[in-house]
Amino acid sequence: MKRAIYPGSFDPVTFGHLDVIRRSSKMCDELIVGVLNNNSKTPLFNVQNRVKMLEDVIQDIPNVKVIAFDGLLVDFAKKMNANVIIRGLRAVTDFEYELQMSQTNRVLDSEIETIFLCTTLEYSYLNSSTVKEVAFHGGDISKFVPEEIKSLVYQKVEELKENSNE
Ligand code: PNS
Repeated sequence: MKRAIYPGSFDPVTFGHLDVIRRSSKMCDELIVGVLNNNSKTPLFNVQNRVKMLEDVIQDIPNVKVIAFDGLLVDFAKKMNANVIIRGLRAVTDFEYELQMSQTNRVLDSEIETIFLCTTLEYSYLNSSTVKEVAFHGGDISKFVPEEIKSLVYQKVEELKENSNE
């Protein structure tokens, strides 16, 4: 069985992520979306919420599972019995970081290969930070995230604003 991992922060999941999930799920028997539980970053959504949001939007794709992880990606991949890592490449600016990460992972575990998928042109500008920034300033994020995610992002941003006024 060919199992691949698509890792990321997904804070929140965007149409760009969904595009990569859909396309890469066709290239393997099972795709595991690995959601990083990263203590060093302060995400908008905690890892349980990020996993739940992803589960909600991938319901129609049969061979995808969403699992949270911490620690090294290669250790998670090994634990999951996956030897392929999928990453999306939006533009040339992504390349340096992605190359460095894939080379590091390869040195850490030479059995694990990274495959890059070029993001569909329509989403090549999109990232989760932009979504949060636009939402924070009251902009429309409907073109960036699915409807059910949109309301959760606005809700979370409002909570943050209320807490910072207290
Ligand atoms: O969505 P992101 O934030 O670009 O995803 C980055 C991610 C989660 C793929 C990367 O930070 C990662 O793999 N973190 C786990 C720690 C690790 O394995 N580091 C060594 C490789 S650089």
